[in-house]
Amino acid sequence: MSRTAVLCYSGGLDTTCAICWLKEDYGFDDVVAVLVDVGQEYDLEQAIERGNVAGAKEIVVLDLKQRFVEGIVAQAIKTNALYEGRYPLVSALSRPLIAGAVAEIAVEHEAEALVHGCTGKGNDQLRFDYAFKANYPGVKVIAPLRDKARTREDEIVYAQERGIPITNTKESPYSIDENVFGRAIESGILEDPWNAPPEDAYRLTSDPAKAPAPKEIVIGFENGVPVSLDGEKLPLYQIIHRMNAEAGTYGIGRIDMIENRAVGIKSREVYEAPAAIALIEAHKALEELVLTKDELRIKHFLEVRWTEIVYEGRWFTPAREAIDAFVDHTQKMVAGEVRLRLQGGLAVAVGRRSEYALYAETLASYGASDTFPHDAAEGLITLLSLETEAVAARARKNA
Ligand code: ARG
Repeated sequence: MSRTAVLCYSGGLDTTCAICWLKEDYGFDDVVAVLVDVGQEYDLEQAIERGNVAGAKEIVVLDLKQRFVEGIVAQAIKTNALYEGRYPLVSALSRPLIAGAVAEIAVEHEAEALVHGCTGKGNDQLRFDYAFKANYPGVKVIAPLRDKARTREDEIVYAQERGIPITNTKESPYSIDENVFGRAIESGILEDPWNAPPEDAYRLTSDPAKAPAPKEIVIGFENGVPVSLDGEKLPLYQIIHRMNAEAGTYGIGRIDMIENRAVGIKSREVYEAPAAIALIEAHKALEELVLTKDELRIKHFLEVRWTEIVYEGRWFTPAREAIDAFVDHTQKMVAGEVRLRLQGGLAVAVGRRSEYALYAETLASYGASDTFPHDAAEGLITLLSLETEAVAARARKNA
């Protein structure tokens, strides 16, 4: 029986070489290369040409942008997912979708192995490995760049010997991963955490110091998901696309952080995720208006856990699904509009309204419309201070 491996393919140098390694070093007869489009920049023609020259039996291209945005990014917005308070999980969100779809193809082919191009140092290997196993239990997972580190120079020589077209032999100064929800930039000069990120690291955002005059944009939500911009109904994909451009112009969503990876090290990470940061800010502002105190408190705790679970690659778990169920229940009330002011480096919610608001102006007002039961306040405090008085009395007695 012929041996088949199914590979998560990007068209880049690593995964192109991987096609050859799988055949030459790992003994596979057939390699199916699957390229998943999640909104990254890539050269389709070149990817297909390289894959064919490298000897792939088949190159499958899947456009999963819509599924990514509606199935995964929407949930991250509802969950206000910011790892360690800052990183909107850009790469961590795309991996389960890519790996799950590629695993389905492997099942169809009854493939022996699933393959990814991650090294042994990052988080992405966990995300791919777990997702492969969750969608194709018992499959063998191969990561050639984890098995053996190779330099870019070696890979170029290796590829050229096999006639694989290398258009750009100049090394990119960074390691990039991107999708419609943002862009992760690592390595090179950024490895010294004292070095400020150079402007050339960024593609989606402009320098916030040179931002145009502030402007406002109204974001509409239904079920916790953005559904309109300035009153115009749009699919979430379009909203994210437009917000990347709008907020990107203001340099919103640049993140420069020292992050705790799942593999035990700290790393310096630079991100740009303008739509993610702006939309999560607006979403939080609306939740404050409509959710109860306890809903917000419990949700905040679950948001942190969800984000850690997803960051560490545990997308396909009952725990993540259970948190989703809680979050979805709360989001029924998260409908309305938020006025978001875009200014240099910042997206600020400056207004919000909803049919489901729990905020009542008559209760909160200091003006003539006030209906707050003032006389009840004293009784409430009398009861709630009983414990305070008991503690104070005990302290005096035993002084
Ligand atoms: N540190 C981020 C994460 O674990 C980004 C990884 C992106 N990969 C890359 N090759 N730049 O989600």
